[in-house]
Amino acid sequence: MSKSIDHVLEESRLFEPPAAFVKNAAIKDRATYDRLYQESIEDPEGFWGRMAEELHWFRKWDRVLNEDHPPFYKWFEGGTTNISYNCLDRHLDSWRKNKAAIIWEGEPGDQRILTYQELHRQVCRCANVLRELGVEQGTRVAIYMPMVPELAIAMLACARIGAIHSIIFGGFSANAIVDRVHDASVEAVITADGGWRRGSVLPLKAAVDEALERCPTVKNVLVVKRTENEVAMVEGRDHWWHERMAKVSDDYPAAELDAEAPLYILYTSGSTGKPKGILHSTGGYMVGTYLTSKYIFDLKEEDTYWCTADIGWVTGHSYIIYGILANGATTVMYEGAPNHPHTGRFWEMVDRYKVTVFYTAPTAIRAFAKWGDDVPAKYDLGSLRLLGTVGEPINPEAWMWYHKHIGREGCPIVDTWWQTETGGIMITTLPGAMPAKPGSAGLPFFGVKPAIVTEDGEEVETGGSGLLVIQCPWPSMLRTLYGDDQRFREVYWSKFEKQGWYLTGDGAYFDKNGYCMIIGRIDDVINVSGHRLGTMEIESALVSSPLVAEAAVVGFPHDVKGQGICAFVTLAAGAQPSETDTETLREHVAKEIGAIAKPDIIRFTDALPKTRSGKIMRRLLRDVAAGSDSKQDTTTLEDESILNKLRAET
Ligand code: WT7
Repeated sequence: MSKSIDHVLEESRLFEPPAAFVKNAAIKDRATYDRLYQESIEDPEGFWGRMAEELHWFRKWDRVLNEDHPPFYKWFEGGTTNISYNCLDRHLDSWRKNKAAIIWEGEPGDQRILTYQELHRQVCRCANVLRELGVEQGTRVAIYMPMVPELAIAMLACARIGAIHSIIFGGFSANAIVDRVHDASVEAVITADGGWRRGSVLPLKAAVDEALERCPTVKNVLVVKRTENEVAMVEGRDHWWHERMAKVSDDYPAAELDAEAPLYILYTSGSTGKPKGILHSTGGYMVGTYLTSKYIFDLKEEDTYWCTADIGWVTGHSYIIYGILANGATTVMYEGAPNHPHTGRFWEMVDRYKVTVFYTAPTAIRAFAKWGDDVPAKYDLGSLRLLGTVGEPINPEAWMWYHKHIGREGCPIVDTWWQTETGGIMITTLPGAMPAKPGSAGLPFFGVKPAIVTEDGEEVETGGSGLLVIQCPWPSMLRTLYGDDQRFREVYWSKFEKQGWYLTGDGAYFDKNGYCMIIGRIDDVINVSGHRLGTMEIESALVSSPLVAEAAVVGFPHDVKGQGICAFVTLAAGAQPSETDTETLREHVAKEIGAIAKPDIIRFTDALPKTRSGKIMRRLLRDVAAGSDSKQDTTTLEDESILNKLRAET
């Protein structure tokens, strides 16, 4: 990347929070934010210690932050707690025991409401079942499920025992399960017969069966009956959830876990190599997700909060389950597609449950806009008071559409920047304390110290763009990459080792209001519908097909997905592309990784543009894919005619 990243956008509209919102907001003005922020930076231990006291600890910590061995920071050392206890038991000795914890709706329209007491009982039962299956503190458990309440129950049960869950998005393929199971030596898998998606059954158990042929570490599989499709049950290995749950006690005391005990692993793509197993730990993650939920979503006792993400992504971990239940709020969970059976499904649900806080992704917002203004116009939406977005930079037009057609110009919007690695929201506006600005994430949350720096670590002046780094540790930060401390150091800390800064991998700048504008990734990672995919992984998937000799994958601007996937492919041994090759290869990638990684465009070429040393010049291909005229330096290119030919075909 060059010294500064170009940006052209300068947005000047500011949207002040409505007076009615401010009146009841947890943080009502900029001065309060400034004071708390200042304190959190000057005295992080005092600040975080005080905040952590709002939660339950079996034993109080000796030290809030241990910085003795960076980048291996420890939070709340000496303290013991349990996040499942804080999400459940903590609410049982008040009237909240009969409050809805989860309001769930299946795609076919079936509904379930679990109160805090009922959820607690189910989680205890599940913990007992898992213990019977040999799961203990530290055991790795993979969860590959549709968005059903049992998914929430399973993760909270693991957390209750101290077992480490590794949730695998239900849209991933059998191969993705194999990689993740191997990487963490998973011993038990929790899955379902299937899940509903656009009216058909996603055959999850079949994918698990296929994967487990190659996974000898897995001893037990617990299977939820959801879709009633025919599944094979392997004697001695597979167990029906409903049968086991019926036979155990609904009491299981939460384990007293060290604050630093691992909570979960969640895999995310990097620019090179296999997916990275982001490891989060108990105490810091709990405090971080609790506090961000409380202030950013401004959670009130009466709120009905709905985050439309899948729990298979970090957004679902932190802001459907852990942070929200730790606050004793009501969380809505939906199983299916947003346009099934019609494009008004989400708005119908907002009205049905009187949702007050709604959190979704820019890609979804662009799809809603595309489906037409008349769709949300048919609904009341009067219950909504706060909107949020996450996953990628939101274009100001999409922001304005959300503000106007969903928020009806009366709801603040929080544009929340964070990552799987950060565990919780890092940069956003606080909804009652400051104006929002379309396309801009906003100001750092408490305890977060962001900066924009050059490759050499010099701070860039306000307005200039560069690398976004975080200059101090924060409680919900990742602790390492599972089983790979070396890669953890290399990827996030080696570039600014001297300074001890965390490298986010994003380019950004601060605008004249001091708000942080995120430009996007600076590495070979593409952001498809708010989900990170490594170009390398897709290339490996393509090359694993016997048809393909070589492949280069780049992102290009896509009006709904944010970025689309364009693959440049050379076929094996001089073969000429046939009409069916494109579809064959797209299906091949879907099988290797999952449908989300299917290339939108495949372009066959006789050769790829390379440097004289043989490196594929992806930055040139990015321009070709975007159809933009390149002003890039091509002097290191070995054979310019290849590029010229590709450009001419565009
Ligand atoms: C990357 C992290 C965090 C949950 C969802 C994605 C991009 C995320 C924003 C935002 C601009 C954003 C960044 C980041 N990103 N939120 N509000 N504005 N960009 O998690 O898969 O770990 O991806 O998503 O590029 O680094 P993830």
